[in-house]
Amino acid sequence: MSNPDRYAVIGNPIGHTRSPRIHTTFSQLTGENLTYEAILSPIDGFQHVVTEFFADPSAKGLNVTLPFKEQAYALSDVKSLRATQAGAVNTLMKGKDGRIYADNTDGVGLVRDMTQNLGWTLADKRILVVGAGGAVRGVLGVLLAAKPAQLLIANRTHSKAQALADIFQDYGQIDAIRFEDIAKHSIDVVINGSSASLMGELPPLGADILAERACAYDMAYGKPQLPFLDWAKAQQATTSDGLGMLIEQAAESFFIWRGMRVETASLLAEIRQELSV
Ligand code: ATR
Repeated sequence: MSNPDRYAVIGNPIGHTRSPRIHTTFSQLTGENLTYEAILSPIDGFQHVVTEFFADPSAKGLNVTLPFKEQAYALSDVKSLRATQAGAVNTLMKGKDGRIYADNTDGVGLVRDMTQNLGWTLADKRILVVGAGGAVRGVLGVLLAAKPAQLLIANRTHSKAQALADIFQDYGQIDAIRFEDIAKHSIDVVINGSSASLMGELPPLGADILAERACAYDMAYGKPQLPFLDWAKAQQATTSDGLGMLIEQAAESFFIWRGMRVETASLLAEIRQELSV
């Protein structure tokens, strides 16, 4: 057998990453001959680490995680629309032409988990996204492509929600909204992309903002209890954490690199069991 192709995830810190576990399973499921490692990059040395990695002829692709997603976007040669919309990327690929191609698979991972794994509908629904940081910017373009009736963004710092709404104006109906005004709308799908959950906090969401049979998704994962999902359950919403998004964004990266789609359900169940969440 020829030498395996090399892939890796780069971040700082990187110790917590599940990507090697996920991609090693994908390669076993598909029989693809590849290795996948985790690389800790110095905070001020990202470009050097990437250049060194791709200098190896067997190096084909990288996942990029915090805090380097914007730098990865900047150093890439060819950017997808999803990458340009997000202004940050989690997937780099070395093309046969030697150029570095960049994509962002977070949005597609989120939408695929909600629509295909969970069976939720986004088209013609009123969607509220909470948060306006990099994580939210990474998913708004793909959410708009799902053609919701309305996409609202609420954020603790309202001006940042407004700035995101302005950036995405050309891609669909998107508006920034203050928390106190949300109750005027009846929300079908609410997505928490703020980092409040990770700090055990709940954004200021009222008890009367959800429509009947609403769905609530927290992009966070790995915690047995997320305050946002507790709030949503108290409103009788159907809920999900973001573990499926993690697996689906990885599956999309794998597809970009290898041209193969993997079956994700059994891996999702396994990792959920390992994390006991
Ligand atoms: P990420 O890369 O995870 O998106 P980020 O860019 O720092 O991280 O963005 C974090 C988001 O979570 C922001 O929208 C932040 O609100 P501000 O813009 O007002 O800072 C939001 N956030 C963090 N802690 C929060 C809390 N306790 N309540 C509500 N929103 C919070």
